[in-house]
Amino acid sequence: MIKGNHILVTGGAGYIGSHTVVELLKAGFQVTVADNLERSDFKIVEGVETITKTKIDFHKMDCLDYSSMDDLFSKNKFSSVIHFAAFKSVNESVSEPISYYKNNVGSLITLLEVMQKHQVKDLIFSSSCTVYGQPDVIPVDETAPFKRAESPYGATKQVCERILEDAATVGFKVISLRYFNPIGAHESGLIGELPIGVPNNLVPYVTQTAAGVREKLTVFGSDYDTPDGSCVRDFIHVVDLATAHVKAIQYVQNLSAKNTFETFNVGTGVGVSVLELVKKFIEVTGIKLNYTIGPRRAGDIEKVYADAKKINQSFGWTPRYGLGESLLHAWNWEKKLRG
Ligand code: UFG
Repeated sequence: MIKGNHILVTGGAGYIGSHTVVELLKAGFQVTVADNLERSDFKIVEGVETITKTKIDFHKMDCLDYSSMDDLFSKNKFSSVIHFAAFKSVNESVSEPISYYKNNVGSLITLLEVMQKHQVKDLIFSSSCTVYGQPDVIPVDETAPFKRAESPYGATKQVCERILEDAATVGFKVISLRYFNPIGAHESGLIGELPIGVPNNLVPYVTQTAAGVREKLTVFGSDYDTPDGSCVRDFIHVVDLATAHVKAIQYVQNLSAKNTFETFNVGTGVGVSVLELVKKFIEVTGIKLNYTIGPRRAGDIEKVYADAKKINQSFGWTPRYGLGESLLHAWNWEKKLRG
C-alpha cells in the first residue's frame, strides 16, 4: 500500500467507479467508497472485494448530505477524491431535470465545501464528451467549445466543469475526465454495468437481446452522414477508463501548481459505427443477434470520437483492450448476471 495515500471514491459502487476502485487497489492506494446505492447494488462492492481480495471501507451515504460527508472527512485523512456519484441517464434527465440538477450539481457543491473545510485539494471529476454536443471538428480535442447541451444531464456536466474551473482559482487541483462511451466489464465477470429497467445504452441492449431478455435490438438511424449511415462513437473498455483515473490521480498529486483545472478526453481515438459494433458482437460471440434498422433517436449526435493525444502524452495512457474483447467481456458479464 502507498502509505498515507488515501483516496475517497464517491459512487464507487457504480459502473465506472467500481472498476476504478479495483485499479486503485491494484496500484497500491488505500480506498474508501461512499455510495448511496440508489442506482447500484452492494453485490458490486462484494465483487470488487473478491477480485482484489480486500475488504472495502464502504459507507452507504449520500453526497448531498453535508453532515455525513463532513463526518467521513473528519475521521479520515484523504489525499484526493474521485467524484463519480451522479445520475447519468440522458432520457431520465429530460423527464426529471430538477432532480438531475439537484443531485449532480448539488453533490459536487457539497463535496467541494467539505473538501475545502478539510483542506483536501485534489479532485478527479467524471465528465463526459457530451459537453461538446456535436463538435464541428472530429476527432474532437479538449479545446473545442461547448455547444448548448442536448439534455439536462449534459448541462449538469457543463455546469459542474464551470464550477470546478472557478474552484481551481481558490486552491483546488482538478482534473476533469471527459469520458466517451464506456463499455465492457471486468474480465473476471464479477463486476459490470447494472442497467435499471430497459437499457438506453447500446451495449447493454445488445447483450440483453443476445441473452433473450429483449426481443430485438433497434439500430437507431441509417441515414446519418457516416460510412454506413449509423451513428459513430468512441467505445472504450471500462477497465481502460478505470486505469486513466489511476494515472489522473498520480498526475494531479505530482503537480506543483497550486491552482489547476485541466480537462482530458478519455477515449480510444477510434470512431466505430453502431452497425460495426453489432457485427463485431456477432463475430466474436458467434450469437445470431436479432436486430432491425429503425428511425433516428431524438437528440442523438451523428458522430463523435476523441482526439486522445493530450491524455496519451500527459499521462502516458493508452487503452489496452480492443472492441472485440470489450464486447466479449460485456457478454461474459451479462451471462453471469443471468446465472
Ligand atoms: N443505439 C441504438 N440502439 C439502442 C441503443 C443505442 O442504435 O438500442 C445507438 C444510439 O442511437 C447511438 C449509439 O447507439 O447512436 C450509442 O448510444 P448510447 O445510448 O449507448 O450512448 P450515447 O452516445 O447516446 O450516450 C453516451 C452516454 C451518455 C453521454 C453520451 C455522450 O450514455 O452518458 O454518450 O455522447 F452523455
